[in-house]
Amino acid sequence: MSSQALARPLTMALSKGRIFEETLPLLEAAGIRVSENPEQSRKLIIATSDPNLRLIIVRASDVPTYVEYGAADLGIAGKDVLIEHAAQHPGGLYQPIDLNIAKCRLAVAVRKGFDYSAAVHQGARLRVATKYTQAAREHFAAKGVYVDLIKLYGSMELAPLVGLADAIVDLVSTGNTLKANDLVAVEDIMPISSRLVVNRAALKTRHAQLQPLLDAFERASRK
Ligand code: ATP
Ligand code: PRP
Ligand code: MG
Repeated sequence: MSSQALARPLTMALSKGRIFEETLPLLEAAGIRVSENPEQSRKLIIATSDPNLRLIIVRASDVPTYVEYGAADLGIAGKDVLIEHAAQHPGGLYQPIDLNIAKCRLAVAVRKGFDYSAAVHQGARLRVATKYTQAAREHFAAKGVYVDLIKLYGSMELAPLVGLADAIVDLVSTGNTLKANDLVAVEDIMPISSRLVVNRAALKTRHAQLQPLLDAFERASRK
């Protein structure tokens, strides 16, 4: 038996839902199948057909934490999540590959009929509700717009409808959620996709196990 086969498997942190679904074809391209689907199973540790790799299922915004502390050797997280994490832990994660999955954009949206440009022009202090306070703070600071940020953990689209905020900063993909709530996007902040993130110590100590997997993800994400 080779020493590699004796080493503990690499642990990759994924969130269920769209990231898991969109990662499956990348794993398949690398010849890796998963032993069960986290949407059906309640299991949080999932074996794969590769004895060198197991998956753990965590909340999307917890992926960087598991990887940074080395509880996972690598993981997949949206750029939105990585920006918020980096605000507290700068440079903590190695981010070698943009996988081009879970694509959407971060945008400013307001209630239909709210004159956002006029408000900005008049120097009104805007109340902005968002889960993405770091990205929002940087965006408005770069524009020189004063905002009061209100931290939310989800359903941002509701905030302008019930008078909690004038605007939101949220992810937009099809635009259906905005439309269903009579909101319109008034400014794009940045395109978002998910990246592979790697623990910095594992990159050195587990290089022989990691490199073939990183190469496989790199190839699969280019297809
Ligand atoms: P958490 O559990 O941390 O609250 P979440 O439940 O919102 O996160 P997901 O909705 O699965 O987790 O989002 C995971 C990632 O997918 C986000 O960080 C973002 O990068 C991307 N994403 C979110 N919404 C969309 C969307 N509508 N279309 C495409 N990609 C998206
Ligand atoms: C995400 C995001 C928006 C929505 C945008 O929510 O937070 O609400 O997608 O997508 P759309 O432009 O295609 O409508 P998600 O589906 O992840 O639900 P969540 O509130 O559980 O995160
Ligand atoms: Mg979501």
